[in-house]
Amino acid sequence: MANDCTCIVRGSINIDEYFHVDHIVRPGETLSSHHHEHRVGGKGANQAVAIARAGGDARFYGTIGRDGDWIQKKMYEYEVDIRGLVTTEEQPTGRAIIQVDRKGENSISTVPYQCVFANSTHLLLQNEIHMSSTYYAIHNSVRATIIMNPSPLPSEEQIREFPWDRIHWLIVNEAEAEGLYYSIAEVSSPGRKGLSTRELVFGLSAQPALRDTNIICTLGSDGVLAFVPTFHRPKTVHEAPSFMHLPAARLMGYVKDTTGAGDCFTGYFVQGLMEHGPRGKVGEDIQEHDIVRILKNCVYAAGMCVEKHGTIDSIPTKAEVETRML
Ligand code: ADP
Ligand code: NA
Repeated sequence: MANDCTCIVRGSINIDEYFHVDHIVRPGETLSSHHHEHRVGGKGANQAVAIARAGGDARFYGTIGRDGDWIQKKMYEYEVDIRGLVTTEEQPTGRAIIQVDRKGENSISTVPYQCVFANSTHLLLQNEIHMSSTYYAIHNSVRATIIMNPSPLPSEEQIREFPWDRIHWLIVNEAEAEGLYYSIAEVSSPGRKGLSTRELVFGLSAQPALRDTNIICTLGSDGVLAFVPTFHRPKTVHEAPSFMHLPAARLMGYVKDTTGAGDCFTGYFVQGLMEHGPRGKVGEDIQEHDIVRILKNCVYAAGMCVEKHGTIDSIPTKAEVETRML
């Protein structure tokens, strides 16, 4: 690799159990599945693997139970550093039961373990672990560039209390942008509803806690919107804010499975940042055209991910993305 950047991913790791059934089980109904398989899942694990596939150094910090020995092996095969993966005696590994398209998630989150973090240049967080573990990771990463994907969305109270000023890059989808805006801004006028995504993103960035945070908002099949205050904040009140918008990648074939596309996008984005060095200061180490190039890689990688079934296993490698972009 070109530099010494490493990213700690502090997050969830689950056993995704897939039950192949004729239809989704209704309450009270017993249904036999023709086929059952399990795979590694959880947003933390998915995003760590995406960084590794993108060519970056990812260190995963999370918890599994005694039933998860095979997960360690898998994560190792995915080339993720698993020295921060702890096995607890207290609980089995978190599970997500997946029947076709319905999900019931259940991650290990009650044991906020106080891990000693290795030095890293970047820290990537989601919201599938206990909030106290997320705070702990932030407090122990004083010099790192911090990237947060607040998914699933924290509660309104958690959103209002969260130290957003510590987050350098916020990665959200449209629903998360909306949820964050209405919780942080605490706007209660009836006219607040029905804002466009641009208005929501700009509104978020105008909040004192997020003034210096760069915001990336993924738009599904519409691609991605980025608001980077260094480049896009209007200089006067008369000037309209500018945004970066990249369309989604043109697909080769049909959309097969969009699960994991956001995680793939996020992992590729973090690896793109890491290529610009440990400080990654916007306006110095990272220019506007660099962000465009990074986002382009991300939309291609995420696009390739939706063309395939599966979550972790549909994340393309850097070489595959480069070939597609030729
Ligand atoms: P999430 O899955 O986290 O809600 P999005 O739906 O915004 O996030 O998708 C993340 C990224 O995946 C998008 O920015 C886009 O690049 C890609 N993507 C998602 N759906 C499609 C699609 N139907 N066609 C092409 N790309 C897609
Ligand atoms: Na997929």
